[in-house]
Amino acid sequence: MIDRETAWGILTEHVQDRGLRRHMLATEAAMRFYADRLDGDPERWGLAGLLHDFDWEIHPTSEQHPMDGAPILRERGVPKDVVQAILAHNPEGSGVDAEQPMDWALRACDEITGLIIAATLVRPAKDVRQLKVKSVKRNWKDKLFCAAVSRDEVREMTEDFSRECWDGGLELWQHVGNVLEAMKGAAESLDLDGRLVQS
Ligand SMILES: [Fe+2]
Ligand SMILES: [Fe+2]
Repeated sequence: MIDRETAWGILTEHVQDRGLRRHMLATEAAMRFYADRLDGDPERWGLAGLLHDFDWEIHPTSEQHPMDGAPILRERGVPKDVVQAILAHNPEGSGVDAEQPMDWALRACDEITGLIIAATLVRPAKDVRQLKVKSVKRNWKDKLFCAAVSRDEVREMTEDFSRECWDGGLELWQHVGNVLEAMKGAAESLDLDGRLVQS
């Protein structure tokens, strides 16, 4: 099993875009949060989040990503269950369905991090620690805001995650609150701690 430092090396080797790195760090934080609550291995779940889009810059279509990246991950020693979770985040392209809790979690956490990042960056403080769920909700309802994030898809993925891992007990806004809380804990590594106000 590779360590976090090696995984970070794979990421920085393949991903130069700051925003994409931030998205993967945010997904890592959300995955670790849920691993702790679902009896998962935070190291493995974290790896799935951190690496799930590692090949987007070299394979920037849903016909290639993440399928063409999977062999690179295997070669670098990323465990099988983590590669499975990564493949299952694009089931249409990969033909790999979600099976393990880690897979359902990754699908549910992926897109919503983008909306939370955008919601943080439009506010003057640019500090995720000051963001509230109700503010995210306001942005969510504005269809033009961060239009690339499909609300229907997030809703559907959250329902799947809830059904498969929470006996139906995880509601959408509770999930958003969880991801937000996880991201608050990673504010510094996400550069969402107010630092971007100066730069
Ligand atoms: Fe992706
Ligand atoms: Fe992603």
